[in-house]
Amino acid sequence: MFEKLQALPEDPILGLMAAFRADTAPRKIDLGVGVYKDEHGKTPVLAAVRAAEQAVLAEQQTKTYVGPGGNEQFNALMTELVLGSSHSAVTSRRVRGIQAPGGCGALRLGAELLVATGARPTVHVSDPTWANHVPLLSNAGLKLESYPYFDRPTGKVRFEAMLERLDALPAGDVVLLHGCCHNPTGADLSLEQWRKVADVLLKRRLVPYVDIAYQGLGEGIEADAEGARLIANTVPEALIAVSCSKNFGLYRERVGLLMVLTESEQQTNAAASHLRKIARGIYSMPPDHGAAIVARILSDAQLTKEWRNELDAMRERMLKLRRALSVALARTCNAEVASAIENQRGMFSMLPVTPEGADKLREQYHIYMTRDGRINVAGIGLDAIDYLAEAVGSVIGR
Ligand SMILES: Cc1ncc(COP(=O)(O)O)c(C=O)c1O
Repeated sequence: MFEKLQALPEDPILGLMAAFRADTAPRKIDLGVGVYKDEHGKTPVLAAVRAAEQAVLAEQQTKTYVGPGGNEQFNALMTELVLGSSHSAVTSRRVRGIQAPGGCGALRLGAELLVATGARPTVHVSDPTWANHVPLLSNAGLKLESYPYFDRPTGKVRFEAMLERLDALPAGDVVLLHGCCHNPTGADLSLEQWRKVADVLLKRRLVPYVDIAYQGLGEGIEADAEGARLIANTVPEALIAVSCSKNFGLYRERVGLLMVLTESEQQTNAAASHLRKIARGIYSMPPDHGAAIVARILSDAQLTKEWRNELDAMRERMLKLRRALSVALARTCNAEVASAIENQRGMFSMLPVTPEGADKLREQYHIYMTRDGRINVAGIGLDAIDYLAEAVGSVIGR
């Protein structure tokens, strides 16, 4: 059976991580991996998470099954965190969240639900989008196409081109939107642009699929969710996939949520029943531990405050790094590259370097990034800013 399988090439990011570890140069910088890092290059367990985890372990009476929909307290609290407790979709009970194994699990659940409708819509993703969107959605059997999104030279959103494409899509198609902190570019829509997108979605009867994996890491908890909230307020139907990996630092616990919004409470309940059936057929039920931690944090005012403070500190650190890198790049590159870095949000930016430029940065300067020029801003040390700007300047120029 298995002798027919050929070994697959290594995942480029894992290959980059391995090459970084093997590099013995005294000065080396890893901008490849997609996790938050503090000023010591570490990804620590948040103090609020540690405290909640201890409480969960101390109080837990049983390890019996939780059910395919996961922890209902988590589902309700996370739905409110993303949409706000007074959102019309929440108060009218037209939205339901179901726990999933990470944002990836949520994205896949949503894809399977789209397939289960029988409508077989095409899903339109931004060009570029997070690489894993492609297998997560297409392996469920959905067809993918892309819409214009990012202008590499200026680092801005190609908004007119994006809107024009969306305005030409057939009714019933699905549009995948990054809720905030666009991965891999860091270029986000303004609220005004979200409004225009929402209007086109409504007019063309398109179904938004919002992926929000970095809430709180761009502008703040509330501001980062504004696009998703606006969409859920404008259109009758939507999917929203949420990840707790980055903002709670729970990467390996696999915590996420898929929200489904429909025109009525009854339809939402029906969709949720399909989601539970889909979950049962893939992994039966999601892991409990991380979701129990999140539920504990969000149901305790003191822990919520502590978590929000830690999240604010992560965001502030990245904004500070962006400002410092922008100032340094203004000396070594053109003004557009420098201002793009400052204006983009979240963990990632995409530099206008060629694949050969990225190779040169790795070989000559020991700076590791994916060959499309994506950098993880949190991977930069403040003391390495000038070195990085010089090196990037040598491959981009003025
Ligand atoms: C855009 C985007 N969506 C979803 C995810 C899902 O992450 P996870 O499955 O680790 O929660 C990620 C993680 O990198 C991401 O960048």
